[in-house]
Amino acid sequence: MKQAILTPIFLGILACWSALSVIAEDRYLFFTWEITNGTIFPLGVPQEGILINGQFPGPTIDAITNDNIVINVINKLDDKFLITWNGIKQRKTSWQDGVLGTNCAIPPNTNWTYKFQLKDQIGTYTYFPTTKIHKAAGGFGGFNIQQRSVISIPYPAPDGEFTLLVGDWYKTNHRVLRRLLDLGKSLPFPDALLINGQKDVAVFTGEAGKTYKFRVSNVGIATSINFRIQGHSLKLIEVEGAHTLQETYKSLDVHVGQSVTVLVTLDKSIGDYYIVASSRFTDPVLTTTSTLRYSGSNTKASGQLPIAPTTDLDWSIKQARTIRLNLTANAARPNPQGSFHYGTIPVLRILQLANSKSIVKGKLRYAVNGISHINPSTPLKLADWFNIPGVFDLNTIKDFPSSSNNPIKLGTSVIGLTLHDFAEIIFQNNENTIQSWHMDGSSFYVVGYGNGIWTSKVRETYNLVDGVSRHTVQVYPKSWSAIMVSLDNKGMWNLRSAIWENRYLGQELYLRVWNNEQSLYTETNVPLNALFCGKAKHLPKLL
Ligand SMILES: *[C@@H]1O[C@H](CO)[C@@H](O)[C@H](O)[C@H]1NC(C)=O
Ligand SMILES: *[C@@H]1O[C@H](CO)[C@@H](O)[C@H](O)[C@H]1NC(C)=O
Ligand SMILES: *[C@@H]1O[C@H](CO)[C@@H](O)[C@H](O)[C@H]1NC(C)=O
Repeated sequence: MKQAILTPIFLGILACWSALSVIAEDRYLFFTWEITNGTIFPLGVPQEGILINGQFPGPTIDAITNDNIVINVINKLDDKFLITWNGIKQRKTSWQDGVLGTNCAIPPNTNWTYKFQLKDQIGTYTYFPTTKIHKAAGGFGGFNIQQRSVISIPYPAPDGEFTLLVGDWYKTNHRVLRRLLDLGKSLPFPDALLINGQKDVAVFTGEAGKTYKFRVSNVGIATSINFRIQGHSLKLIEVEGAHTLQETYKSLDVHVGQSVTVLVTLDKSIGDYYIVASSRFTDPVLTTTSTLRYSGSNTKASGQLPIAPTTDLDWSIKQARTIRLNLTANAARPNPQGSFHYGTIPVLRILQLANSKSIVKGKLRYAVNGISHINPSTPLKLADWFNIPGVFDLNTIKDFPSSSNNPIKLGTSVIGLTLHDFAEIIFQNNENTIQSWHMDGSSFYVVGYGNGIWTSKVRETYNLVDGVSRHTVQVYPKSWSAIMVSLDNKGMWNLRSAIWENRYLGQELYLRVWNNEQSLYTETNVPLNALFCGKAKHLPKLL
């Protein structure tokens, strides 16, 4: 691009002009969602589900990069309710993130309107409820963002696409599951896996010879899955907004909270083929199927289900390391993904976050660096914005686990970071179950996975060139995963275990990405429709 010397006044005019053109160009999509409880039968027996406009799973949002989304959520449940948009970055506006650290939950029989822009995002995402284990009853759905027409994608346009929401499922009512956790007990083993809310039922139909995009997300609460299609190979094209090297796989592991996008060519003879999801690292193994149908097929899928690893960890780690960024491809913007040389940026902040589990006063709790997070009744973001004291303290959780075997303490975990800090975060999983860590507000580069205890020596093994950027990373049992992240999004951001029992019982925290400049260039104002609760309850209404 040609560079001219621009005067501040001319820059000002340019800024106004581009602000206007943004308003003119970017679409608005309006939704009204009524949240109700209703009877669903995913496993053939009636149970209470959470419906959106009568649907389980909820409607799929199909959007384009930079669309403005306005969703009026009408809560007809007898519980407070909140939805988060998993992987939507909410640039400069953690106000729309839909977690208890940023929002007051929407009271029963009221509504609240989310407004946000899908700024510079492309790819396969999901949304789901964040409080009270509602996720185990529904309220989740797909959130797909297509490229703008001026952006070329690094693969031929597919002939069609399918959205697959795969997740573990319990016959037990979500209120019962919640009571178990409140009593300080673990959740039972799930009863099944579902694909789009069904077991062994869903059918996806395509034409022989054509190529389809499959958007596969793990919307479960506890279980990693393996995904595969009988007789067909999966060409990985995108992971959580990053275009990957297009490797071909027979099957792919997808951990809780993650999404992958694959291309599948219908290159076999006309017929029906099994689509299979099975649980990983569990005993017994849960398996569910759906059908890939070639149009004109009159033969049911038959034969053995394609096999896949079940408890093998090494297989999964090896596969994870092959998922890398295509450095020359663009993502939502035309500049190549490789132009941000993350491996050469000096690290300004190192966090080492170790998860643990123990019994506190007779009840099960989970912790990060010894602190088991409690959500205060005042959202952290409101407390921060309005300077309400006594809600959180940046010294509660430390950047590193304590070396001694201190007992777990309850607390409100907020880590203070400076806007534009470049951070290395090491997740150390000393438990013998798999972890899945999700960060709101940013994508991060996954630089390594390894067994055992992380030491500075393993930095030599980091992928500093083409690690994939994503929003959720798995951490294998008794292992570590390391990420690097540019903290360019001011706000209060949830860093959570996507394993819902762990999160509910304390394995989450907030990253306060902040600088002391109050400016619309770095962060939007509190929305006029913001709900006030807790110590913010008596603040004057803005609207
Ligand atoms: C919806 O919730 C109410 C209140 O808890 C409950 O009595 C009712 O049975 C639920 N309806 C269904 C269909 O589960
Ligand atoms: C609730 O819905 C009405 C329209 O049905 C809308 O005008 C109002 O802004 C909504 N309230 C909030 C807080 O979003
Ligand atoms: C990487 O992206 C480019 C588009 O810039 C594409 O032509 C190429 O095939 C991709 N390479 C791989 C290995 O996916």
